[in-house]
Amino acid sequence: MSDAPLMKVEHIRQEFAVKDGTLRAVDDVTLTIDRGETVGLVGESGCGKSTLARTVLRLIEPTQGTIALEGRDITKVPQRELRAIRHRMQMVFQDPYGSLNPRRRIGAIVGDALDLRGVPKSEQRTQVIAALERVGLGIDHLHRWPHELSGGQRQRVGVARALAASPDLLIADEPVSALDVSVQAQLVNLLVDLQRDLGLAQLFVAHDLSVVRQVADRIAVMYLGRIVESGPTDVVFARARHPYTRALLAAVPIADPSRRGRQREAIRGELPSPIDPPPGCHFHPRCPHATDVCMTEQPALWHYADGGRAACHHPYGVSAADVAAASRDDLASPAAAGMSAPDPSTADLADAGETPAGAQA
Ligand SMILES: Nc1ncnc2c1ncn2[C@@H]1O[C@H](COP(=O)(O)OP(=O)(O)OP(=O)(O)O)[C@@H](O)[C@H]1O
Ligand SMILES: [Mg+2]
Repeated sequence: MSDAPLMKVEHIRQEFAVKDGTLRAVDDVTLTIDRGETVGLVGESGCGKSTLARTVLRLIEPTQGTIALEGRDITKVPQRELRAIRHRMQMVFQDPYGSLNPRRRIGAIVGDALDLRGVPKSEQRTQVIAALERVGLGIDHLHRWPHELSGGQRQRVGVARALAASPDLLIADEPVSALDVSVQAQLVNLLVDLQRDLGLAQLFVAHDLSVVRQVADRIAVMYLGRIVESGPTDVVFARARHPYTRALLAAVPIADPSRRGRQREAIRGELPSPIDPPPGCHFHPRCPHATDVCMTEQPALWHYADGGRAACHHPYGVSAADVAAASRDDLASPAAAGMSAPDPSTADLADAGETPAGAQA
């Protein structure tokens, strides 16, 4: 086994031709997922999470960039050949109603992956039952139809179908957001168990940080097609550097009633259109700390010593020593060559327990 990450996408760009021009849904994203690791991908609706997830699987072809599975570049592998490795990367879709064929029984839906893997018919029934049991369903669901199941049960079928393929990587695109809150927790627990018991790596997509906190080893925050912050989950929660991440954190529900006011705060303004994004740092029109440099220069993704990365000219809580020790992500864009270093401590961490200014309505 190679020591390359299980999955590595580099400098991925995904553009769509639309009526008003070109929509850049994913803009120079580099992301790795190690074996057995769960990476949480978060950001507002429309920031490009699903597009990135689909690109990783090559369900859509990237406009630019490379996709490597265990060090093997699969960006250009023909679709026919891709089929042979596709079972290693499985997707669980957001919509448990639309993602199951209503005309097929549960057993047949889950069994498809076994056909693709060439598992003999005689063994399929046992394996389908095992996959169903693995997700908390059972033999009595084999002959049921999707419409006979609840949303939570359907989503479990979606996970069972993915597991039947015996994947190394599960890409779960907002797997719980369509479900009742009570059912969400059960499904999240199931995914955590799968990671632990099967050593499954996951890319877990969500639009808020509270769900991701429970499942992810590492978090990547996306804003208008770019990763603006990433790091180990505890680092992101303890020391978020990007004002956008801090605003998302401020929106995470808090159990302590005395601090509950923070729950309602949203980030000011709307997500700008990816057809005509703001120049410089995409976040600057909504950012309380924006200065001239933010309006003209795209911030590079800086790597700090604690494993955290942030693409911000004025990151929170970063000292001159942190900046001196930091290194920069290489960007695909030649314009990146002369990029400025982050400005230490202009955005003070003193308000860490308070509402980030960027979160005010
Ligand atoms: N096939 C397509 N053609 C044109 N534009 C697209 C296409 N797919 C996605 N987009 C656009 O790309 C942007 C990112 O969409 P995407 O679905 O990836 O966002 P998302 O982060 O998954 O949002 P959500 O949280 O609502 O699921 C949006 O502006 C969307 O309208
Ligand atoms: Mg989506």
